[in-house]
Amino acid sequence: MGSVRIDVRVDDAEAGELVSACSWEAGALGIEEVTAEGGLCLRVYAPPARADAIAAACAAEVGGRARVAAPRPVPEQDWSLAWRQGLEAVVASPRLVVRPSFVEAVAAPDRAVLVVDPGQAFGTGHHASTRLALRLLDAALAELGGRIDGARVLDVGTGSGVLALGAVALGAGSAVGLDLDPLAAPEARANARTNGLGGRSHFFTGPLEAVDAAPFDLVVANLIRREVAPLLPGLEARVSTCGALVLSGLLDTDRASVEASLSAVGLRVTRSAEEREGGDAWLAIEARRAVT
Ligand SMILES: C[S@@+](CC[C@H](N)C(=O)[O-])C[C@H]1O[C@@H](n2cnc3c(N)ncnc32)[C@H](O)[C@@H]1O
Repeated sequence: MGSVRIDVRVDDAEAGELVSACSWEAGALGIEEVTAEGGLCLRVYAPPARADAIAAACAAEVGGRARVAAPRPVPEQDWSLAWRQGLEAVVASPRLVVRPSFVEAVAAPDRAVLVVDPGQAFGTGHHASTRLALRLLDAALAELGGRIDGARVLDVGTGSGVLALGAVALGAGSAVGLDLDPLAAPEARANARTNGLGGRSHFFTGPLEAVDAAPFDLVVANLIRREVAPLLPGLEARVSTCGALVLSGLLDTDRASVEASLSAVGLRVTRSAEEREGGDAWLAIEARRAVT
């Protein structure tokens, strides 16, 4: 028996969530979200016998906020592989490509490649906050390259380990990554092994306080403002005299308050980068010790 794909265009994210919930309930096998012609489209994969029930459930749940296309047949296994679609290789920074293992990246002599498969921990390079952090790490490491042999990096809220491992792939000597989520460190270690970086990285489950306040050349944290604000004194304490702190996961509306909080711990903004994604303007900031 083959499967069918039903494309459901929705007006907004809330309608998308409702369509998703009622489609699962009506027997969907898989659901993929894609952005199509500026709007959101859910591709619902289902057995042909469930197609009518899914269309009816969507109409009942969101009415005019969704347009349900006629089902079209797809080979049986397509829905189970469909989640891979859209997971392309990402040029995350000028010198780094992040790719899933099932996507080939075009080789470029001046670019390192990091393989990260989607797992339970955050961080495949497909979110703007991850890319922005990698861009600022890339720039900071390029500057450090001539001055420091084997820069040390601390990644706070490491998730998949993508920032720690990306930094090492970009030339850092070693990286330590930590996360409160017990799922993260094992995934980060597995990603380190996949990339042959196990010997230059260390990941553990625990808080920032578990890291000696020994200096790191780069400290990076991709956390939303509410999460990072209480950590700022501890982050600052772990940055070496000439080192840098890279914060990502911020919104452009956070800029003034984050600058003020950084200033309160003796850091000033030396570089920033922004990227728009999904209606949000994401912001990353590099900060260094204020020279008096
Ligand atoms: C947005 S994800 C970033 C993952 C990855 N570093 C990236 O840039 O793609 C934030 C991660 O920080 C972790 N986290 C949140 N608060 C934390 C804290 N206070 N200390 C350590 N990890 C934290 C979460 O569990 C999550 O894995």
